[in-house]
Amino acid sequence: MRSYLFVPGDAPRKLEKGLTSGADALLLDLEDSVAPDNKPKAREIVRDYLNAHIGKSDRPRLFVRVNALDTGVTDADLDAVIAAKPDGILFPKSRNGGDVVHLDAKITAREALYDIDEGATRILVLVTESAQALFGLHKYRGSSKRLDGMTWGAEDLSADLGAETNRNEKGDYTDPYRLARAQCLIAAVAAEVAPIDSIYPNFRDAEGLRRETLEGRRDGFTGKMAIHPDQVPVINEIYTPGAEEIGKARRLIDAFKAAGNAGVISLDGQMYDQPHLKRAQRLLARVAK
Ligand code: COA
Ligand code: MG
Repeated sequence: MRSYLFVPGDAPRKLEKGLTSGADALLLDLEDSVAPDNKPKAREIVRDYLNAHIGKSDRPRLFVRVNALDTGVTDADLDAVIAAKPDGILFPKSRNGGDVVHLDAKITAREALYDIDEGATRILVLVTESAQALFGLHKYRGSSKRLDGMTWGAEDLSADLGAETNRNEKGDYTDPYRLARAQCLIAAVAAEVAPIDSIYPNFRDAEGLRRETLEGRRDGFTGKMAIHPDQVPVINEIYTPGAEEIGKARRLIDAFKAAGNAGVISLDGQMYDQPHLKRAQRLLARVAK
């Protein structure tokens, strides 16, 4: 999965548009893009939308972003949507693996109630939205069998830190957000789930988006979130492994095999050892999905 497009849960026109955006997944939002008074209405719209589309074969994966545990309305969100069988829940403002265990239990209870296979509802988690959350990143591994991906956000973190801005004059993230980004990537790989890069908020700046998306791919992210349909093609293009990259990975794997699964080989005058092999295998696994 390459692109994850946020769509406010109370915006029927955008919800319709999301279906043809080309995004691999839609993040149907009940949290920050919906005003408090509109949340009950948004829950109904998202539930009806899931009921209308979840049974279709040719559709993006549909995740619902619920409100955080400390809001007291996470249960109301889950009560509204789980019976409509979303592919998963995007869980914001998580502080550590314990919060995911808590969410997992809430989902498990509802799956039992609505006769849904246990574990069918997956979890993506936002892991860097407060200062406290940055100290809980080593606790996600094994927290839930539902956990498929980890992502990060700079907006809520900068609010928590009291920062004036999270980017410098050149438009690049300042240190606290670069740290959060790197920690999310490393924690996701350690937990063996997909590392998903954050949004690029300036949706009219295609060049900036391209640069930031390339940086994400370079560092090891496997997909990126978006806030506008125009961002989707750029993200899909950059996160679709090219024929050359796939060919190189196949050649490398074949060369290891030909060398009797040696620990280290040489190919075209370069040294390759186990981390290179692992990377090539991971790339091919992603292509096969
Ligand atoms: N998903 C689906 N469709 C979207 C969309 C989105 N996230 N954002 C815009 N569109 C649609 C618009 O409805 C419009 O369609 P139309 O011409 O058929 O009416 C078209 O794309 C062009 O939109 P545009 O005029 O360029 O943008 P806008 O000013 O209407 O909206 C935002 C700008 C930022 C408000 C909007 O993109 C948005 O709501 N993004 C998601 C915000 C969000 O969920 N934030 C929380 C996570 S950080
Ligand atoms: Mg937020």
